[in-house]
Amino acid sequence: MNRIKIFDTTLRDGEQAPGCSMHLDEKIEVALALEKLRVDVMEAGFSVISKGDFDAVQTIANTVKNASVASLARAVKKDIESAYEALKGAVSPRIHTFIATSPIHMEYKLKMSGDKVLETIFDTVSYAKSFINDVEFSAEDATRSDKEFLAKAVHTAIKAGATVVNIPDTVGYTTPIEMFDLITYLMNNVDNIHKAEISVHCHNDLGMGVANSLAAVRAGATQVECTVNGLGERAGNAALEEIVMALNTRKNIYNGYTNIDTTQIYRASKLVYNVLGLYSPINKAIVGSNAFAHEAGIHQHGVLANRETYEIMTPESIGLPKNNMVFGKHSGKHAIENRLKELGFELSKDEMEAFFVKFKTLADKKKTINDLDLQALLGHTEKEITSKGYKLDRFTVNTGNYITTNAVVRLSDGEKLYEEVAIGDGPIDAAYNAINKILKAPEHSLDDYAIRSITEGNDALGEVVVRIKCGDCVITGRGLSTDIIEASLLAYINGMNKLI
Ligand code: KIV
Ligand code: ZN
Repeated sequence: MNRIKIFDTTLRDGEQAPGCSMHLDEKIEVALALEKLRVDVMEAGFSVISKGDFDAVQTIANTVKNASVASLARAVKKDIESAYEALKGAVSPRIHTFIATSPIHMEYKLKMSGDKVLETIFDTVSYAKSFINDVEFSAEDATRSDKEFLAKAVHTAIKAGATVVNIPDTVGYTTPIEMFDLITYLMNNVDNIHKAEISVHCHNDLGMGVANSLAAVRAGATQVECTVNGLGERAGNAALEEIVMALNTRKNIYNGYTNIDTTQIYRASKLVYNVLGLYSPINKAIVGSNAFAHEAGIHQHGVLANRETYEIMTPESIGLPKNNMVFGKHSGKHAIENRLKELGFELSKDEMEAFFVKFKTLADKKKTINDLDLQALLGHTEKEITSKGYKLDRFTVNTGNYITTNAVVRLSDGEKLYEEVAIGDGPIDAAYNAINKILKAPEHSLDDYAIRSITEGNDALGEVVVRIKCGDCVITGRGLSTDIIEASLLAYINGMNKLI
């Protein structure tokens, strides 16, 4: 069986997608979850693009010990120097440099001849190699490139010292049959190919990102690039959880295995959705809420007799616990801690203390607390521990259909308290206006506001996600409470703290 390496690019290609940008603290949280998942490589960002990206790559490089950390770099010297600067503290750093090889990209984007592109590949891979031994080269838009030219590009990169050569389907255009043929062609026509690892990176524009990646594995690729939940530019990238579970479940077809701890999949998926304020579609493969649900009578009957009648994987294999447990105000810290462990969350002593305070407050308001509540509460508690800035101290809102709605909001910042009153077009508008008066933040607009309940019932927890736009930047804020006005305020304050 071949060992298939998992190269995760959630923090680079995933984060590049509109509305998916993450704050530094959030990137670190995701990086640690990826480390727990045991990815082989995590691409932490594109260091030259902004100071934020540089800081993220550097911090992750200095933090993560059990995975290689990569930074993307165009095939230009200043990008490679920046990648090296950001990565030099890593235990296992990798520079990932790329240039396009398709006729359309070379003519219209790069305005370079084929010969110039080959020369640039040689120069920049050699340059990267002078800093770091592990250098990955990507031939952008490889699947729309002339295959003989692509073979020359791959040969040149390996000759210059590339340890990994990546064949991206940048625009999600290829099909499994073509991908299989392309990798087979390269294997047979590049004479130094055995000196490097062959990787693929498939986008999902036609919904074939995972299928194309798996076809490449069948043809001999030993690294797959992917993102948690399939996030990424446009329709996204191949989904990590789908690739890993396909390799696991169909070993006889792919003859490969990964080092991923699959029991961390559910947790990592939840974390990434939470951080971005997104929710999984109910029918999303592997991690959707219906992925292991059996409603039809005939299916339930079959599963009760033998799970394997309708289940090709077990929920436990991705970290979903078998049965839902219910807690209440009499539940003890140990029971909660144990359940969190079963759900895949290991908390430090301080984190557990902070979590338990939150749990008790919630248990006073809500009769029963289940796994979904625990996970939601945990996501928000983690956020509060890491988030700096203003906190909600208290608020009052007067609203009705025959009065002008007004809100008084008091925020604290350390020892200091700030209070403002404002009117608005409804309770949330009034409360947000009061917060704006206190914060004197840069000009911004509320781009999106969404509310949903975590579980059923009148006392359910409500989660609010807001998107705040400031210039080109869109920031996500999240808040959780059994009171929807409070959840709305918490979400706005969370977002505004990041903005400030
Ligand atoms: O899709 C793509 O081609 C990329 C490369 C930079 C690897 O993301
Ligand atoms: Zn990509």
